[in-house]
Amino acid sequence: MRPLIHIKNPMTQDELKKQVARSAIEYIKNVPVIGVGTGSTVNFFIEMLADYTSSIDAAISSSIDTTRRLESVGIKVLDLNEVNNVEVYIDGADEVDPKKKLIKGGGGALTREKIIAGASDKFVCIVDSSKTVDVLGGFPLPIEVIPMSRKFVAGEMKKMGGQSVWRENFISDNGCEIIDIHNLYIRDPMEMERVINNIPGVVTVGLFALRDADVVLIGDGDKVITR
Ligand code: A5P
Repeated sequence: MRPLIHIKNPMTQDELKKQVARSAIEYIKNVPVIGVGTGSTVNFFIEMLADYTSSIDAAISSSIDTTRRLESVGIKVLDLNEVNNVEVYIDGADEVDPKKKLIKGGGGALTREKIIAGASDKFVCIVDSSKTVDVLGGFPLPIEVIPMSRKFVAGEMKKMGGQSVWRENFISDNGCEIIDIHNLYIRDPMEMERVINNIPGVVTVGLFALRDADVVLIGDGDKVITR
């Protein structure tokens, strides 16, 4: 008799995003003011918030797109200056390392994301398993810059071995431009974040290492892994 072979039915990336988005709901139950990030993973989370509008007083949003989505499911959006405390911030990432340091900004919302992450008591990062890496840098590192500094910042990044690609035809919600830095192998994310923060013209670097995630939830198919 031939042995029975159990063929695992792999989940699509969107299914993994939904799986991890669902697991983040536990973190916002009975939290009156939540921070909400930007991106396709968070968009699934926002859709799920429609069932929790009665327990959420308001959200702090990281982008114009997220604001629109939150309001469309019936959640009031406040300015960060209007609240005393953001207990929990839920957001995705482009890369996550084993120490919960992140690359973010693929969607271009890195500046407001970094502000809310910094202002929150707990940053819960939600990713599908394709985002986990041993060393950050495979995903091009986004840097939001004041437009007149773009070439100068690119030159400074070249000295660090990075190749800058201008995200043409893209203007951030803050009226700035973004360059994406390729070929970086980021051994010391905290030090690199400090160095890039000090380049004149840099608004925000998409390294979230000095303020990293408190919790990383990883949608892995069989289960959600918590780091
Ligand atoms: C937005 O600027 C980004 O920081 C996103 O949070 C990040 O790119 C993850 O997006 P996805 O969930 O779409 O992969």
